[in-house]
Amino acid sequence: MATKKKKRAKKPRRPAFAVRKVTLKDLPILVHQRRAMWRDLGAREQRELDRADKVYARWARSRMKSGNLMGWVAENGGKVLGGGCVWLQPVQPRPGHKLMIQPYLLSMYTEPRSRGLGVASGVVEKALEWCRKNRFSQLRLHASEMGRKVYLKHGFERTWEMRRRIKKLREDS
Ligand SMILES: CC(C)(COP(=O)(O)OP(=O)(O)OC[C@H]1O[C@@H](n2cnc3c(N)ncnc32)[C@H](O)[C@@H]1OP(=O)(O)O)[C@@H](O)C(=O)NCCC(=O)NCCS
Repeated sequence: MATKKKKRAKKPRRPAFAVRKVTLKDLPILVHQRRAMWRDLGAREQRELDRADKVYARWARSRMKSGNLMGWVAENGGKVLGGGCVWLQPVQPRPGHKLMIQPYLLSMYTEPRSRGLGVASGVVEKALEWCRKNRFSQLRLHASEMGRKVYLKHGFERTWEMRRRIKKLREDS
């Protein structure tokens, strides 16, 4: 009697990728990721995106130079799959906190064909590692709908930050 062999479902292959810290030479990659992130979040006006690219490039360059912006990219064979940055954001003084800066995770982006493979997770892990090494007590961010699962998986929790909209912006989330 012929026995039917059960076909095993093929597990999708995780591409090998390495996450490295960026340098100023990588600025065009960071600008691309920033623009692509906003486009995915609903910003569609090319002129606005072009303008935002220039402003972000200037903003990021000066902060990278002063050591207030760090970035990481995930690469596979020289191809960039995704990345993200930590900005040391100025904050108001409060009791028990000597530093008036806090690390803030921003510009998280994974190229569409590389999503769901752990690329963003790899970047988040590097960012957390950097914060621990530099003795920061927390890492903050504003999560897009797509990003929420990634952050929850890495122990991020919702906070009590609030806002009152004065004017609705198209890309607001
Ligand atoms: C959000 C984003 C960066 C996630 O990148 P990613 O590399 O796909 O994320 P990861 O592969 O590390 O996913 C981690 C977890 O998120 C969830 N997840 C990621 N992609 C998912 C998908 N397509 N469907 C469902 N869940 C998904 C899973 O829970 C996954 O955990 P698992 O590995 O245990 O399954 C990416 O979707 C993106 O660039 N989106 C557009 C821009 C954006 O929203 N950026 C975030 C701004 S805060």
